Amino acid sequence: MIGKDINKAIALLEAGELVAIPTETVYGLAGNALDTTAVTKIFVAKNRPHFDPLIVHVPSLQRAEQVVRSIPEKALILSNLFWPGPLTILLNKKQIIPDLVTAGLDTVGIRCPRHPLTLELLQKINFPLAAPSANPFGYVSPTRPEHVSEQLGDKISYILDGGPCPVGIESTIVGFEEDQTIVYRLGGLSLENIEDAIGSVSVQGHSLANPKAPGQLNSHYAPRKRLVLGTFPQLFKTYGQVQVGTLSFRTLFQEVEKRNQIVLSPSGNLEEAARNLFSGLRELDKMEVSVILAEEVPDIGIGKAINDRLRRAAAQA
Ligand code: TXA
Ligand code: MG
Repeated sequence: MIGKDINKAIALLEAGELVAIPTETVYGLAGNALDTTAVTKIFVAKNRPHFDPLIVHVPSLQRAEQVVRSIPEKALILSNLFWPGPLTILLNKKQIIPDLVTAGLDTVGIRCPRHPLTLELLQKINFPLAAPSANPFGYVSPTRPEHVSEQLGDKISYILDGGPCPVGIESTIVGFEEDQTIVYRLGGLSLENIEDAIGSVSVQGHSLANPKAPGQLNSHYAPRKRLVLGTFPQLFKTYGQVQVGTLSFRTLFQEVEKRNQIVLSPSGNLEEAARNLFSGLRELDKMEVSVILAEEVPDIGIGKAINDRLRRAAAQA
């Protein structure tokens, strides 16, 4: 059921049930992070392997301090500048966070989301929320409440409707190893923003299946249809004989039926493109086409995260 009743969401979460929550990035599938029974329900509903840890959501840095042992200087700088916002920081966890949440790792991903409804919700409950993206494991993240209800509607008690997600791509994940700052996942907060604040960082690549590097599975974020990444109009030469759908940054093509084309941002705005990316992939998945053709966007700002998701979607199978 979809609705805007925050008190209902609170009552369900306090009873150990799951609620889908809006964030500025994507919808999350939330449960009490301190309750292993609730956390187990999350893994089951998503069909998510237990080696893939969950992000824990808090309404403030103060509340983060209740569940982590220490906060490095650079993490403090980042959280002061960018929380609430699309940034997850890996920090050493206190015992109160169940091992189930972190897949046995000593670090926990903490994030303070920038969505008024969810911030209010987090402030009104006295536990943090574990919340992965509210999609079946491996599929594209949901950026609208209907995306959640289409796929997980029968498995969740309530979907809190906060409208379409204004950023549209998952949070950037940052961690610290000795003196190094490592970006484990490109996301809604740009590398440029992070480097302006704390100096240079290294970006970790991902592999096809390496349980030692959770969050790095290549096949994440993929539509069911085959997606081929290349350059237009070259792609049309290769795929001239089949029904194709296109996902382009800003142009429509004469070679393809208009109804089979998704343009991310006609004006060439990368923020708008990010906002439309996942709903565009979902629409293409439903079209009567056999292949999705796509092209990378300019590799700057949030464009880097868009390109990362396009590459991962293309890497499947
Ligand atoms: O924007 C977001 O981050 C959304 C919203 C709902 O907050 N959440 C999200 O969660 O994208 P999820 O579970 O779909 O992706 C979280 C990623 C996973 O790939 C997981 O492996 C990684 O974060 N992760 C979580 N905790 C980690 C840890 N301690 N060390 C390394 N990777 C971690
Ligand atoms: Mg996810």
